Amino acid sequence: MNQDTDPASLIHWPTDSAIRRAAAALAAGDLVGVPTETVYGLAADATRDDAVSKIYQAKGRPSTNPLIVHAADATAARRYTSLFVGDRHNAGSDPTLIDQWKIASAFWPGPLTVVVPRSSSIPDIVTAGRDTVAIRVPDHPVMRKLLKQCPFPLAAPSANVSNYVSPTIARHVADGLGQSVAMVLDGGRCDWGVESTIIQLDADGPRLLRPGGITAEQLRSVFGRIDVPEQGVNHSKAQVAPGQLPTHYSPDKSLVFVDRYETLLGEPSFQAPQRIGRIAFSRLDDAQRSQFDQVWIVDETGDLRRIASRLFAVLREADQSDCDLLVIDRCEEIGIGRAIMDRLRRATRSVDQSQ
Ligand code: TXA
Ligand code: MG
Repeated sequence: MNQDTDPASLIHWPTDSAIRRAAAALAAGDLVGVPTETVYGLAADATRDDAVSKIYQAKGRPSTNPLIVHAADATAARRYTSLFVGDRHNAGSDPTLIDQWKIASAFWPGPLTVVVPRSSSIPDIVTAGRDTVAIRVPDHPVMRKLLKQCPFPLAAPSANVSNYVSPTIARHVADGLGQSVAMVLDGGRCDWGVESTIIQLDADGPRLLRPGGITAEQLRSVFGRIDVPEQGVNHSKAQVAPGQLPTHYSPDKSLVFVDRYETLLGEPSFQAPQRIGRIAFSRLDDAQRSQFDQVWIVDETGDLRRIASRLFAVLREADQSDCDLLVIDRCEEIGIGRAIMDRLRRATRSVDQSQ
């Protein structure tokens, strides 16, 4: 927790006693790095202003960007909305929202976050003053055990410095935020590797605010219809999650899509940097490899699910290489490919405004 702490010493194997210590640290108002099935989170007691304010401070996150509240199960999750009173519907609630809640909560535990009218038990600092709250029930055995031991919900954004690539192993958290956390629970490599899908429940039907592991196709099949933004921008309602900035999830190095790079090569004014790295989504032949100084193959077979689960770790590794420019593949925007391309558009935009 101070400048001299070795990041590795903050990482703890998730024994019952380590999970108990994590729950105690959270109860004392400290931050803990937690594994989830999507990405690692930076958790605090969601009911305490002082604890939650440490999250914003540690990440350098604007206070206008609200946090997701994590609950142990769907019954606990209900308490953080204003849709229900105890086990009953709140008389003032819109029945269409309650129907949508029931459909959405069938995906829990899992990588789906639901934005709904909030209850007063969730403080303003979590929702950035909005009258809605984002809630999810994560599906990771360590996080589930931890939530069961905490008599409060956990506010947790992805455990990265604001706008950097999300962490998918414990070491990413300790390296980036080691000075701010009491400890990091090591839950292994995150299964999904991209952040949860976010939907906002609405009288007109749910809207997709951020694509993720639960796909638009799955949501459409259960809701009948869902308002899906084109290429990460919801033109119809001009609304995405407030934290979905055009430049986000970005490595520090310049990142461009391979087709854009090929166009750049043909431009007389383009000065090729010294060392160029290539991040590929399937095998490259020798001729393709030879054009680059370093090559990362995210998945030999081009499997979208595996690409998603490894992508952020590869981006971080490439960012730490001595390449001056990183060139990356696109993938098909079906299933989880929509989430991969959403994140990559934001990551590449920082150097290439034409995406
Ligand atoms: O998979 C995940 O969702 C991970 C793990 C740790 O659960 N968390 C995560 O949190 O990705 P974060 O803070 O990095 O992204 C949450 C997104 C932000 O874009 C935020 O603006 C949006 O959720 N959000 C939170 N509350 C909202 C609300 N009331 N209305 C609309 N968007 C909201
Ligand atoms: Mg994030």
